[in-house]
Amino acid sequence: GKDGYRHYMEKELHEHPVAIGQTLQRITDPAAKTIALPELPFNPADVPRVTITACGSAFYAGMVGRYWLESLARMPVEIDVASEMRYREAPQPNKGVALLISQSGETADTLGVLRSLKKEGQSIVSVLNVEHSTMGRESDVVLGMVAGPEISVASTKAFTAQLSVLAALSIEFARARGTIDQAQEEKLTASLLDLPSKAAEVFTRVEDIQAMARVVAEARDVLYLGRGICTPIAYEGALKLKEISYIHAEAYAAGELKHGPISLIDRTVPVVAIAPSTILFEKTLSNLQEAKARGGRILAFTDAEGAKKLKGVAEVIVTLPDVDAFVAPILYAIPVQILAYEVALLKGTDVDQPRNLAKSVTVE
Ligand code: M6R
Repeated sequence: GKDGYRHYMEKELHEHPVAIGQTLQRITDPAAKTIALPELPFNPADVPRVTITACGSAFYAGMVGRYWLESLARMPVEIDVASEMRYREAPQPNKGVALLISQSGETADTLGVLRSLKKEGQSIVSVLNVEHSTMGRESDVVLGMVAGPEISVASTKAFTAQLSVLAALSIEFARARGTIDQAQEEKLTASLLDLPSKAAEVFTRVEDIQAMARVVAEARDVLYLGRGICTPIAYEGALKLKEISYIHAEAYAAGELKHGPISLIDRTVPVVAIAPSTILFEKTLSNLQEAKARGGRILAFTDAEGAKKLKGVAEVIVTLPDVDAFVAPILYAIPVQILAYEVALLKGTDVDQPRNLAKSVTVE
C-alpha cells in the first residue's frame, strides 16, 4: 500500500535514502570505505570501451555514468538511447563491455540492444532493479539495485539507486585501471556512504520546492539547465515534469543556451537551474544572468555557497546540503523529482498513472 502517502510516487520519493543506502550496502565495504562489487568476468584494465544503453530516466543515469567512467577511470564511453543504438550498426571493439541500465529489466529496446551486442561479442553487464527479469537472465553480470518495488510510472528511487551502482562501478574501474589511489577510493566511497543522510535532509527543503512549484505550475514551457555531470539531471527534471504534469519542458547544457534556446526566454518561460557551487558554477551563473537579462525567471537548486552568489539573480532558491561534487548529481536528482511531483499536485493530474504511459515499455 501507500503507507499513508497520497501517491506511490510520494512514498517512493521518500524511499530515496533507503534505496541508496541498501544498494550501497551490497556493493561497498563500509568499514574499509572501499567498493566490493561482484566479480567481473573481465579485467577493467583490458576493456577498450564501455557502451552504455538505456531508455528514459535510466538513460540519464547512464549519461551521469559516462562522466564518472571518463573522468575517474579514464575509460572511453559510447552512449545512446536503446531505440537508436539498436539500429545504428555501430562497430563494437574486441573485449568491449556493454552496460545496460533498466529498472524493470523488461524494456523491449534495451533488451534488443543487449541481445545484439551479445552477438557482437561484448560482455554484458546490466544494472537492474528487477534482477529476476529477462535482461537479468541474459546478462553475464547483474549489478542489482536494491530499491524495492517501484509502482509509480514515474521512476524515482530506482534512478538514485542506478546512480549509486554506476558510481561504485566507476570507482571499481578506476582502481583496476590505476587511475585513483587508495586514499581517493576511500574519500569517494565515504562521500557515497554519506548520501542517505544527506538525501533525508532534502525533505526539510520541501517548502522552498513548493514555492518553486507555484511558479512552474503557471508556465506552459519550462527550460531546465545544467552543466557537466549535472546536465543529465536537467534532462531528468524536464522528463519528469512533462511526464506527470503535462507541462512542456526542455533541458539543455547551459552553455548551449546562446546557440538557440535563449530566444524562447521571457517572463512566461521559467528557467530551472541545477547549479551546485562545485560544478562549473561560475559558467552556469553567467548563463543564468544572460537569461535573467532577457526577462527570464530563474529558479535554482544550489548549496549555501551557490545561494550567496545567486541572490539577486534567482527568484526562488532551494539550498541543498553540501556534498562532494562526485555525488552531487545523485543528491540533486531528488529535489528535481520532488519539484515535478509538487507541480503535478497543483495541476491535479493522475500522478501515479499519467496518461498514455505504461510502467514498463515491453513493445518497440
Ligand atoms: O524499466 P526501465 O528502467 O528500462 O524503463 C525505462 C524508461 O521507460 C523509464 O525510465 C521511463 O522513462 C520513466 N517512466 C521515467 O520516469
